[in-house]
Amino acid sequence: MSTAAAMKQEVGKVAAQRVKSGSIVGLGTGSTTAYAIEYIGERLKNGELKDIKGIPTSFQASVLAKKFGIPLTSLDEADRIDLAIDGADEVDPNKNLIKGGGAAHTREKIVDSLANEFIVVVDSSKMVDKLGSTFLLPVEVLPMAMTPVMRAIANLGGEPELRMGVKKAGPVITDQGNFVIDVKFASIDNPAELEKTLNNIPGVLENGLFVGVTDVVLIGEVKDDKPMVREM
Ligand code: A5P
Repeated sequence: MSTAAAMKQEVGKVAAQRVKSGSIVGLGTGSTTAYAIEYIGERLKNGELKDIKGIPTSFQASVLAKKFGIPLTSLDEADRIDLAIDGADEVDPNKNLIKGGGAAHTREKIVDSLANEFIVVVDSSKMVDKLGSTFLLPVEVLPMAMTPVMRAIANLGGEPELRMGVKKAGPVITDQGNFVIDVKFASIDNPAELEKTLNNIPGVLENGLFVGVTDVVLIGEVKDDKPMVREM
């Protein structure tokens, strides 16, 4: 197993330990959360946890939940989300995030924002001083509005790029049937303002800036050749 995978596994395990019996859990998307989902399933199987329900943020999360035996519910049925566990592409010192590397940020923002506690699980490579320094900002857009949205983003000073599929010809299609535009901004000085400005462009569904949503960040690190977890 690679060092990055070992950090992700450890941090996923620690997050899964924080789930309590009887709770409704938001299940995030990505390779780090996948470990958390696996370990929640393991705890259910060995009887350590009882009466858990998951609310998935993507097809990936629902497929994994079914694989690892976690019963699912929906936002229509659940009256609350006790805890959400999700990954991130960048985390700044204020616990603000860029998400959407897996094109799931729209559903993730709905579920993560509703949770009483939102735990972010990352490896140490995701920590940045300023958002946008290593990762492009994903914006989900209705396909028919792609061109005017890209123009509006360019007018804001961004460099928009339509995300293309891998092992699929043409653009990435989100779980809701939309496109994703990845945007390079020279500098994101005010994430809260940019989040609102982008969502105000007609045709934009949601962007990957998560401002003021995170409660806890669990960071996987390697010390003396051993994976460790630090809490922020
Ligand atoms: C999904 O759209 C993303 O927000 C993921 O949560 C994010 O890309 C982190 O994924 P990894 O844990 O695979 O790095």
